Amino acid sequence: MTIEKLISRRDLPDDDLLHLLETGDDVLVRQLLEGAFRVKVAHKGKEVLRRGLIEWSNVCRNDCMYCGIRRSRKVQRYSLTPEQILDCCRRVADAGIGTFVLQGGENPAGALELVPVVKAIRERWPRHAITLSLGELPFETYRLLREAGANRYLLRHETANPLHYSRLHPASMLLESRLACLQELRRLGFEVGMGMMVGSPFQTPSHLLEDIRLIQRFGPEMIGIGPFIPQADTPFASFPAGSADTTLRLIAILRLMLPDANIPSTTALAVLAGGKDAGLEAGANVVMPVFTPDTVKNQYDLYIGKHNV
Ligand code: 5AD
Repeated sequence: MTIEKLISRRDLPDDDLLHLLETGDDVLVRQLLEGAFRVKVAHKGKEVLRRGLIEWSNVCRNDCMYCGIRRSRKVQRYSLTPEQILDCCRRVADAGIGTFVLQGGENPAGALELVPVVKAIRERWPRHAITLSLGELPFETYRLLREAGANRYLLRHETANPLHYSRLHPASMLLESRLACLQELRRLGFEVGMGMMVGSPFQTPSHLLEDIRLIQRFGPEMIGIGPFIPQADTPFASFPAGSADTTLRLIAILRLMLPDANIPSTTALAVLAGGKDAGLEAGANVVMPVFTPDTVKNQYDLYIGKHNV
C-alpha cells in the first residue's frame, strides 16, 4: 500500500519514509526494491548505462574526515598529464562508452589546467558526454569548463544537515557553499548530480530524511549514493561502515521519487554488497567502470576495498 502510494504520488509523508528506512518488515522492503526496479525499467529501459571513470588527480586541498585522499593523509600524489587523460578517453571510447567522467580531488589550479584538456576532448569526441567531478571551484572556473564543452557535473552534498556536515568536514567547509555551487552549476546549464554517504559517522535516520527532501527539492539529473567505508589513517578510521541494505532502500526510494534520474550503482556499495547487481536491482541504472591507468589507480584511495571490486 505504502509502496503503491510512493509510486503514484512520487512522495510520502516523513513518517512513512522513515519507516521504509528503518523497518524490519522484509516483505515491505522487497516490495520497495521490486517497485523501484519496475519503475526504473519503465522510465529508463532495461539497458545499464556505462560511464568511463577517469580519476585524473588525487591532489586535494580539503581535509574531509572520511576521505582517503584528504590533504593531511600521506599518499603519493599524482595528476595525469593531458596526453594521459586523452589516452584514457580513447580507451573509454574504444570500449563503446559514450560518457567520460573526469574526477579528481578539489584543486582549483588543477581544474583550470583542465580547461584546454576538456576543449581537446570535446573537439575529438563531439558527441560524447563530458562529466566533471572536481569539487567546489570558483564560479568562473565552472563557466570556463562549461564553455570548453563539459556538460555534466557531479558534486555530492554528502549530508543535507548543516551540523552533521560540520562534523564530517573541517570548519573551512560549509554546506551552504556546496549548495551554492550546485545552484550555479545548474544555472550554467550543466546536468547536475548530487548525493550522500550512507552511514557516515553521527548520521541519524532523520538526517537521511533531510537528504531525501533536499534531493527532492533540487531535482538533480543524477543521484550518487554510497555507504561510508572507513579508511585507515583518517579521523574516521575506526567508525563502522554504513549499511548496504539502507543504501539499497535509499536508491529505491529516490528512484520512485525521481523516476527519470540517472542513479549509479556505486563502487562503495559494490564493496559491501559483493558487486553492482544489488544496486541495479534496487533501481540504479548506471555503472561507472574505472579507466584510470593501473600505474596510479591505487593512489586514488578513497576507502578500504575500493580497488578490489
Ligand atoms: N567512504 C565512502 N565514500 C567516500 N567518499 C570519500 N570518502 C569515502 C569513504 N571513506 C565519497 C564521497 C565523495 C566521493 C568522491 O567519494 O562521497 O564525494
